Amino acid sequence: MPPKKRVPGTPDFSYILADVYARRKRKSTGSPFHLMDASHGYDGVAGQYSRARSPSIGVATVRRWMEELPRGIRLLDLACGTGIPLTRVLGEGNYRVVGADASPQMLAQFRSNIPTAPAVCGAAQRLAFQDASFDGALAWGLLFLLAPDDQRRAIMELARVLTGGGALLMTAPAERGEWKDVLTDRTSVSLGADAYRDMGNAAGFDLIGESIDEGDNHYYAFRRRMRG
Ligand SMILES: C[S@@+](CC[C@H](N)C(=O)[O-])C[C@H]1O[C@@H](n2cnc3c(N)ncnc32)[C@H](O)[C@@H]1O
Repeated sequence: MPPKKRVPGTPDFSYILADVYARRKRKSTGSPFHLMDASHGYDGVAGQYSRARSPSIGVATVRRWMEELPRGIRLLDLACGTGIPLTRVLGEGNYRVVGADASPQMLAQFRSNIPTAPAVCGAAQRLAFQDASFDGALAWGLLFLLAPDDQRRAIMELARVLTGGGALLMTAPAERGEWKDVLTDRTSVSLGADAYRDMGNAAGFDLIGESIDEGDNHYYAFRRRMRG
């Protein structure tokens, strides 16, 4: 059955679905290694994602967020994907940007698209960075891919790797609900805005503001509280 809901920030994928389903069928009878995929299926659809990702959705919101960020700071783009368009936009600022993603295939494209930024492979729930490594972080299109406990862990990890006063911009729907990711066919889970505000607060963030972009993606802008 075709999935019913699209990935936030992406247009109608119907023209590529046949390819996705054929690939998934091949995988189900092939190597078992996809079962260990920490990218929630995105590693297997990286090519399709790069063709389908809107080049504009999120750009204006990220540019507005950047207006508040001092030049020269260290920024993490968590779940950076191919780096297009958002890491490229971050590159317009004079920041030291690092991309991180759980998909080696996404990162291969990222390295070619954004050769100036280090690209680190790993899961958001266990970030391979030391405490207070970054002054800001973007997490676009990530949280709802993860199981609820892992969403909590990822927000805790973001708090851990940010400095006191560090800025976080993340997306997750304001409404609670579950749906099938149109590209990967995995279940996505939104815990809803109240839960994301609470999880941010519990992890050590103050909520600065919320907004919605042209693709209906809901943004939470947080500021890391100073460490005690
Ligand atoms: C919807 S895409 C968003 C990509 C990018 N931020 C953008 O603006 O297009 C979701 C990304 O999350 C990555 N991802 C999925 N699970 C992850 C995890 N546990 N840790 C880190 N990245 C993950 C996927 O590989 C994919 O690149």
